[in-house]
Amino acid sequence: MQDRANTPGEIATPPGLDGPGPTPLQRVLGGRRSIRRFMDTPVEPAKLRACLEAARIAPSAHNVQPWRFIVVDDPVLKAKLAQEAFAGIYRSSMFAARAPVILVILARPGKAAVRLGSRIQGVPFYLLDIGIAGEHVVLQAEELGLATCWMGWFNYRRARKVLAVPRDFKLVALMPLGYAEKRPTREPPRRPFEEIVAFNKAPRA
Ligand SMILES: Cc1cc2nc3c(=O)[nH]c(=O)nc-3n(C[C@H](O)[C@H](O)[C@H](O)COP(=O)(O)O)c2cc1C
Repeated sequence: MQDRANTPGEIATPPGLDGPGPTPLQRVLGGRRSIRRFMDTPVEPAKLRACLEAARIAPSAHNVQPWRFIVVDDPVLKAKLAQEAFAGIYRSSMFAARAPVILVILARPGKAAVRLGSRIQGVPFYLLDIGIAGEHVVLQAEELGLATCWMGWFNYRRARKVLAVPRDFKLVALMPLGYAEKRPTREPPRRPFEEIVAFNKAPRA
């Protein structure tokens, strides 16, 4: 299959899909970027709700729905979380503190049968589930004009402590949510289509 564009941020329109332009979903997918500069503008409660509803309806292995979210929008708690989670070697993550909301993405691994299935298969299904639900948030936010950034570079132990996360929850990621002050100008490089997709055989690298 040939595609017409490998430009990062722009989705190639495969032959047969040539229309008047990108579809609404293609515009959302192609427009999304990880944002690291946020305005103070608060997130409207209805938009926040829509983002979390998007996560709620995500698919999951055995429909376990292991995702849980803490919405940190209290400025005092947010500052405390930032101070603890973004200290020392994690200080480059401090940008997230400027966002009006930080979503804390938790997992509750759930049913023993699914945990066993994960172990047999060698794939931690609940983490796949969390990734899907989190990306639903990201894409819904993008469609609503909001900005996000997945974050895995922070002090997990201290973040758990500040938020008093119970032992049976895994803290998986943080996600600042707000309005972008600045979008990165450089598009991140993307691997070409031919490198990531192989028809009827394994990719070479
Ligand atoms: C699981 C995950 C963790 C990430 N952690 C961080 C992070 O801690 N800090 C950060 O600035 N960006 C983080 N990112 C964002 C990536 O750097 C970004 O997605 C990648 O460079 C591609 O850029 P784009 O999202 O603008 O397309 C993370 C992304 C993912 C999916």
